[in-house]
Amino acid sequence: MSLSEHKFLLKTFAESHLTGQENNDYHIRLKLNHSMRVLDNGLAIIGKEDINGRTGELTAMACLYHDIGRFPQFIRYATFRDANSVNHGRMGILALRNLDLPGGFSDGEWRLIKAAVGLHNAKEVNPRLKGTLAAMVNVTRDADKIDIFSVILEHLSQPHSPDQVVIHRLEEHPTRYTPAVYKAVISGNSCDYGLLRYDKDFLLLLTGWLFSLNYGTSARLLSERGLVSKTFEMLPQNREIDELKGKVLHHLETLGKNRLQE
Ligand SMILES: [Fe+2]
Repeated sequence: MSLSEHKFLLKTFAESHLTGQENNDYHIRLKLNHSMRVLDNGLAIIGKEDINGRTGELTAMACLYHDIGRFPQFIRYATFRDANSVNHGRMGILALRNLDLPGGFSDGEWRLIKAAVGLHNAKEVNPRLKGTLAAMVNVTRDADKIDIFSVILEHLSQPHSPDQVVIHRLEEHPTRYTPAVYKAVISGNSCDYGLLRYDKDFLLLLTGWLFSLNYGTSARLLSERGLVSKTFEMLPQNREIDELKGKVLHHLETLGKNRLQE
């Protein structure tokens, strides 16, 4: 089965969750479009990072199917917030289990795809993960972050957007952010969604993701699209944010260089 046939399969699955109800259908389409863009980001990383052969093909599948659990999640719970519903990675494994999976991949390879779907949203990934599954998970996580970055920035740059689901109904404030969120991000720790209160907290959370990127290509894609500079333009201007910006830029530069030297 070709890549375009897999894209069609995901599209058909997603569209089977359309109900004709505007709010529902908007969110189903949002995640379908997101999945396709994550695939495109993933293909860019696969190409530039020389992830070849079967590993490259399986990595593309992980990117395409990573959010397949989002469709049943929204239908059942009317939210994308895992804490209030289900772990959508786990839901993705179940969705794939229930699908009549096409040929072209062995049972073992489908197991790898399911494992990558299940791990794509894990809080931390075991650093000892190696080989094909590591590439699948690491590329998917980077490709996902790159797209979420642009979606959130676009959303936050449209004030008073009627749709708040994408940022989980956070309070809009021009300068406020939560000190605990800043502290977690600047010290390189992961930050719990439960700590988020203001829209700026979400920007800080996104900034923290930059420290967990796996590939220099991902850092370059984000920078080339102006997403890093835009994030800092949208955060308040103060000494704390300047310090964070310095740390982020240094990290991205190092990540890009390390990969180039390999
Ligand atoms: Fe996801």
